[in-house]
Amino acid sequence: MMNEIYENYNHLIDLNQYSVEQWDDMLRLAADIKRNPRIYENSCIGKIMGTMFYEPSTRTQMSFQSAMLRLGGGTIGFVNPQTNSSVAKGENLKDTTKVVSGYCDVVVLRHNLEGAALAAAVNADCPVINAGDGGHLHPTQTLTDLMTLKEETGSLSGLTVGLCGDLKNGRTVHSLIKALSCYKNNKFVLISTESLRLPDYIQEPLKAKGAEYYEISSLEDAFEEHALDMLYMTRIQRERFENVWEYRSQADKFILDTEKMKKAPEKMLVLHPLPRVNEIAIEVDDDPRALYFKQANYGMYIRMALILQTINYELNNSPVLIGELRDDLECRNMKCITRAETYLPKSFKKSVGESGDIYFCEYCEESVVGI
Ligand code: CP
Repeated sequence: MMNEIYENYNHLIDLNQYSVEQWDDMLRLAADIKRNPRIYENSCIGKIMGTMFYEPSTRTQMSFQSAMLRLGGGTIGFVNPQTNSSVAKGENLKDTTKVVSGYCDVVVLRHNLEGAALAAAVNADCPVINAGDGGHLHPTQTLTDLMTLKEETGSLSGLTVGLCGDLKNGRTVHSLIKALSCYKNNKFVLISTESLRLPDYIQEPLKAKGAEYYEISSLEDAFEEHALDMLYMTRIQRERFENVWEYRSQADKFILDTEKMKKAPEKMLVLHPLPRVNEIAIEVDDDPRALYFKQANYGMYIRMALILQTINYELNNSPVLIGELRDDLECRNMKCITRAETYLPKSFKKSVGESGDIYFCEYCEESVVGI
């Protein structure tokens, strides 16, 4: 089975670089690994994965490490660059990536700035996997979510999906919506406060695909008005707010507890990328619809599949940046990697809007203004 479904994967920055058929192949491989782990236990002997985590992580970091160890490979890396890497001495992302990618067969990067994974890929000598770039994307969490849905519902199409919480800053939400909108007849119910609505650049793919979606501000209304197959709860992303007061004004607006679960559809699965803070009461853990711990476990198997599909191929030579290189444009997103790593080529993608051409930063996908 392994040889039949391997594809030549390279960097994984955004899942939408690859086709739905390739995601489906990876989901099948992950399911096979879960069923037959012994077959794969020596698949990565002699291979090394480097983890560069500029932001804290439990699940992503440890599931990647566990995945590589279960495939017979080894791991190196840092989880706190300010105490155990030369980032503390002022080394930039380019130099760190260039060096670490020379020691490894694959680099897994988590970074606080948006577009950092693409920026690292520009300078890497081995494939780079995006393990979360600021509030932008988190494609391996999405693979985890897709595997959970596929294994638990049998399908990734025709689903009514509720997403609740910090839809503005939640990178897991962004990646998941982009992915599920590529499957047929999925409907989205976006539950948030006005301030934490889904950003325009994630609404665009929904509109482009003609996906049905609703923006509402109450969990109870969501349960009453929509037959949700899945509710994806998310944490309010405290680290993305300007100050603690802004965060507090948004915290604890949506809490899923047993009372609300009584009003929820009988078969509605509850997923959460975790960590949770307060948005799902602990008592909900005993509800058979609560799948978030099982979901975290699926994450290890899908990362095993991703490592296999990434590591057994040479890095191909296709260019990493495919936009227009424009020195007369500047990304206006203060959290974009191009603001901190100013040596990066400024690259933009063009889209034709109603009032003329719109340029989007290739790294973080924010629309831009000329300078
Ligand atoms: N879901 C997720 O990304 O969790 P960690 O931040 O613990 O990796």
